[in-house]
Amino acid sequence: MATLASRIRFGTPHQLEVLGAMEAFVKKQIEQHLSRRKLWMPNELSPADAGAEDEALITRMRELAKGIPAAVLVALALNLLTEEGLPHFHRLIAQNFGPDNAWAEWNYIWTAEEDRHGCAIRDYVRDARLYNMTALERLQYQYLEAGFDPEWEQDPYRLLAYTSLQERATQVSHSNTGRQAGNYEPRLQRILAHISGDESRHYAFYRGAFGEILNHDPNQALQSLQKVTLGFSMPGHTVAGFSELSDVITRSNIFGPRQYQEIVEELLDHWKIGALTGLNAAGEEARDKLMKVPSRLSRIADYADAKRSKKAYKFDFLPNDRQTLEV
Ligand SMILES: [Fe+2]
Ligand SMILES: [Fe+2]
Repeated sequence: MATLASRIRFGTPHQLEVLGAMEAFVKKQIEQHLSRRKLWMPNELSPADAGAEDEALITRMRELAKGIPAAVLVALALNLLTEEGLPHFHRLIAQNFGPDNAWAEWNYIWTAEEDRHGCAIRDYVRDARLYNMTALERLQYQYLEAGFDPEWEQDPYRLLAYTSLQERATQVSHSNTGRQAGNYEPRLQRILAHISGDESRHYAFYRGAFGEILNHDPNQALQSLQKVTLGFSMPGHTVAGFSELSDVITRSNIFGPRQYQEIVEELLDHWKIGALTGLNAAGEEARDKLMKVPSRLSRIADYADAKRSKKAYKFDFLPNDRQTLEV
């Protein structure tokens, strides 16, 4: 008979046992995370205090923002939409890790930190008048209303593998967007640098947690990792028009197959996947397939680069006078 724990949480009884045995490790990871973190608030980056004399600041911000290239605006829009998908991810983490344990404590901290990301970007884009906001809000609304049920959702190992890849991917995406925006608008770069700093600490947490799963249950962990790595899609992949948005971002060298390949390589290397021994047949097969993923991804990226030619894109959330861009 299923225990109460296995009915309210995803995961096999063995996975729940492994996650339970890792609580002390998770607590230590949380302590480390909190000691490295310097908590910031969105208002410190785009102040909106009562009674503040900020007209000159806002005017300057809107002037500078006009110089930000349309492709960077597209990347920033997708970054914002992705961050606003937080309710989907909070739910998935809560369902995989359950209540009243160290994992849940992490989920609350992580959610509170992530929530500032959407706020900080939204405050900026609103103050700077970057977009046709209703069009952007409509995308956000649809993304949330449609729900989000990735096929890995009932496997906590796949969730941890996914979050490891995804935190690093969003870190790269925010920081590359910030770098390109920074030539025109240093304030936006500063905001994105704060966010990407958070993402790198989240990455350290999830990467550490998945590494510990590999120590406890390597055969199952490798199979879960293999499934996630091959089928990886960015968290915003169910946003309407995602493939055009992500095309622009790939072509602008902000985030695409090339950056994803580097992340996979970095993680396989960090977890020393190629050197894992003492596995069963399924574990060995997953390890060997995983080690072939980077070269496969590299071939995909080479192929896409070789056949690419300039293409025009149109997005209705961009300002009316530059809704069309060619990249
Ligand atoms: Fe985030
Ligand atoms: Fe994050």
